[in-house]
Amino acid sequence: MSTTVRDAIIEDAQCILEIYNFAVTKTTAVWSEEPSDIALRQAWFRERTARGFPILVAESAGRLVGFASFGDFRPWPGYRHTVENSVYVAPWIHRQGVGRALMQSLIDRGVALGKHVMVAGIEETNTASIRLHNSLGFREVGRMPHVGTKFGRWLDLVLMQRYLVADREP
Ligand SMILES: CC(C)(COP(=O)(O)OP(=O)(O)OC[C@H]1O[C@@H](n2cnc3c(N)ncnc32)[C@H](O)[C@@H]1OP(=O)(O)O)[C@@H](O)C(=O)NCCC(=O)NCCS
Repeated sequence: MSTTVRDAIIEDAQCILEIYNFAVTKTTAVWSEEPSDIALRQAWFRERTARGFPILVAESAGRLVGFASFGDFRPWPGYRHTVENSVYVAPWIHRQGVGRALMQSLIDRGVALGKHVMVAGIEETNTASIRLHNSLGFREVGRMPHVGTKFGRWLDLVLMQRYLVADREP
């Protein structure tokens, strides 16, 4: 099934919320056990887009099936050429190329904005995300044991990164 990727609009916030909350309640992709709500997602949308960061959505057969975005890696000026990405796909359409399509478009946006590095922070057992990022040129650069907790256990963080505009001046 073909997937199209476009910029999100505020009206997409409800579909984004549903996909996000599945990840909150069922997975270790988001390190929170507290579901989000529509007001929080709309605020996130406004804050990101006002700062010029992309929020992309994927559609398949007329349905919104995933989203991806990036924002600050860390909120200090010296990190301004580095971004941290996120990507979520509705579970019923996993492994059909949606995550890859979103990430390829997101990488293109990072390049267009002149960003230097994209970082992904991934829970150690999230093989799907680690392999997806690996297949797109991300490499593991760090591993932080027990820095998180969810579902009554410790979580290890794998940090991966790839260059966007590799040869830019700082
Ligand atoms: C991670 C996630 C975004 C992948 O999206 P997806 O649309 O299922 O992935 P794709 O179909 O585009 O797969 C692209 C590649 O990723 C890897 N991959 C994806 N799912 C995989 C899985 N379950 N097991 C192993 N590798 C996997 C493969 O290399 C795959 O290429 P291939 O199918 O040609 O072998 C999706 O599983 C998801 O939304 N998970 C929950 C949220 C999450 O973990 N987000 C990332 C937080 S860091």
